[in-house]
Amino acid sequence: MSLESKVRGRYIPKHIAIILDGNGRWAKKRNMPRNLGHKRGTLNLKNITIACNVLGIKALSVYAFSTENWKRPKEEVDYLMELPKQFTEDYKGQFKENDIRVMFSGRRDRMSKVNYDLMLEIEEKTKDREGLILNVCFDYGSHFEITEAVKQIAKDVKDNNVDISDINEDMIASNLYTKELPPLDLMIRTSGEQRISNFLLWQLAYSELYFTKKFWPEFSKKELLKALDNFQNRDRKFGGLKEKK
Ligand code: IPE
Ligand code: IPE
Ligand code: MG
Repeated sequence: MSLESKVRGRYIPKHIAIILDGNGRWAKKRNMPRNLGHKRGTLNLKNITIACNVLGIKALSVYAFSTENWKRPKEEVDYLMELPKQFTEDYKGQFKENDIRVMFSGRRDRMSKVNYDLMLEIEEKTKDREGLILNVCFDYGSHFEITEAVKQIAKDVKDNNVDISDINEDMIASNLYTKELPPLDLMIRTSGEQRISNFLLWQLAYSELYFTKKFWPEFSKKELLKALDNFQNRDRKFGGLKEKK
């Protein structure tokens, strides 16, 4: 039996997240400029998004630019800021064919007007689609996301819309960008680094973690299937005891 049919016959995670890491090292290994790695990474994002949709995954959250990535050289930041436009223009036709919805999570106050308008436009245009939801985390940081949720709830308390005793975990979750998405089943990080780098800290509570040495541009559909196969062989207990099979 092929790996794909094996994976398809078992529980398909509803929501997976990927830290798209290793574009720079992928390019360096080939004596290419880092930005070319980002370009190849963007192409790979299209392919993996479509592969996830075909497998029946409901939501894919990808870490494309962190709140800390502004520290990089201006030339690289400028290039990364052009990618949302390139990405949507190049792939919008294929995303439409696959009924893929796109949303963006992250700060909007530091976006250029072009990116700001583009994000609203694509979210609006794709909002009724019923295939996979691609959640592009761009100028995203988990600490910022949680801080904003705290501020919003504090404001609701101050305005007498919420009583302190009513604050609960669901209320916090419903103030995060991921409020509409299913719980996070699996988090993948490419490039061999084994850290979270400020991504989806709240949402990760009971996710399975999968690290691979492959750089993001070389993370193929086969690598995705390997990650899913590995996930399907884990015992998720959520603090309870292993269920008898
Ligand atoms: C991931 O690749 C993309 C972003 C963080 C924007 P990197 O650019 O971090 O690649 P490495 O880690 O330097 O190889
Ligand atoms: C995490 O990768 C952020 C993204 C993939 C967008 P980094 O390359 O920025 O993370 P660190 O610096 O290695 O932790
Ligand atoms: Mg990196």
